[in-house]
Amino acid sequence: MESLLALEMVRVTEAAAIEAARHMGRGDNKAADHAAVEAMRRTFDDVDLAGTIVIGEGERDKAPMLYIGESVGRSMPGQPEIDIAVDPLEGTNLVAQGNANAITVIAASEKGGLFNAPDTYLDKLCVGPDVAGKVDIRLPPAENLNRIASVLGRKVADLTVVILDRPRHEALINDVRAAGARIKLISDGDLSAAISCAVRGTGVHAVMGMGGAPEGVLTAAALRCLGGEIQARLRWRSDAERDRAVSMGVDPSMERVYMTSDLAPGKNIVFSATGVTDGDLLSGVRFFGGGARTHSLVMGYQTKEVRFIDTVHMFDRDKPPAVRL
Ligand code: FBP
Repeated sequence: MESLLALEMVRVTEAAAIEAARHMGRGDNKAADHAAVEAMRRTFDDVDLAGTIVIGEGERDKAPMLYIGESVGRSMPGQPEIDIAVDPLEGTNLVAQGNANAITVIAASEKGGLFNAPDTYLDKLCVGPDVAGKVDIRLPPAENLNRIASVLGRKVADLTVVILDRPRHEALINDVRAAGARIKLISDGDLSAAISCAVRGTGVHAVMGMGGAPEGVLTAAALRCLGGEIQARLRWRSDAERDRAVSMGVDPSMERVYMTSDLAPGKNIVFSATGVTDGDLLSGVRFFGGGARTHSLVMGYQTKEVRFIDTVHMFDRDKPPAVRL
């Protein structure tokens, strides 16, 4: 089931990426996001699955499409019901400014396999498979960096940590600098950075700091497939956010550490991401006369398959473009 589902899901992230990429550098992050949402929603109608959105664009009254609780997919008789988390465009500003690392993302699992995260922040520590189980978010950053360096057989000075460039991270940035590690400050996109730290050759060794909780669940789904690890703690931006989460049945403690399998406990996880702009992990969409080419990462937890998929999309069947290497 995972293999078939993965191939269906990549069509959805590819369609969203192509439409979002048309907005690259146009300075309109909302238009880019809207294009991705519409394309994702439309493509779901053409895909054989019986899905329910558990992480999406927001509550039903606030989001017209891909809202929490919405049914998606062309459900066939006897098809198992699945939960779906989407980030139709991770890095809306990255696309608007023509910057690197914007991606479109979906994760799916059997019912209950993805934490229904409230719309708030998580304080995150993400590492790759070698380091999984060797770090602890409750420790000071310097201690975790020493552990990562020791496991990877490097000096702390040879590690690169990705941190969102936000005033709230001033102390964290100072601590990481004092420990001697290199830092890549990013304007957006801690989800793609977190996937990168579990893929050798991207030059990313850890992601630290506070970012979106929904992105944290998608990160966990990807890291389950790749064997990496996310540890996270809830960080409320307001009392209203906290109260809303409590009404959803979420434990409001900011001390509780959520591990990868708390955020994505599913046994049948499938993950798909497609590059919108060129990035550390995926190439962005390339348009040419009559078509486009996309680059995606598609993974299954049970199948233990990690596929990089390079697709040529022919827009005009009567006048197809020449497929090139
Ligand atoms: P978009 O929703 O605009 O694509 O932004 C994504 C993101 O940068 C995430 O990668 C990150 O987790 C979150 O926003 C950070 O939120 P904030 O901008 O409030 O610091």
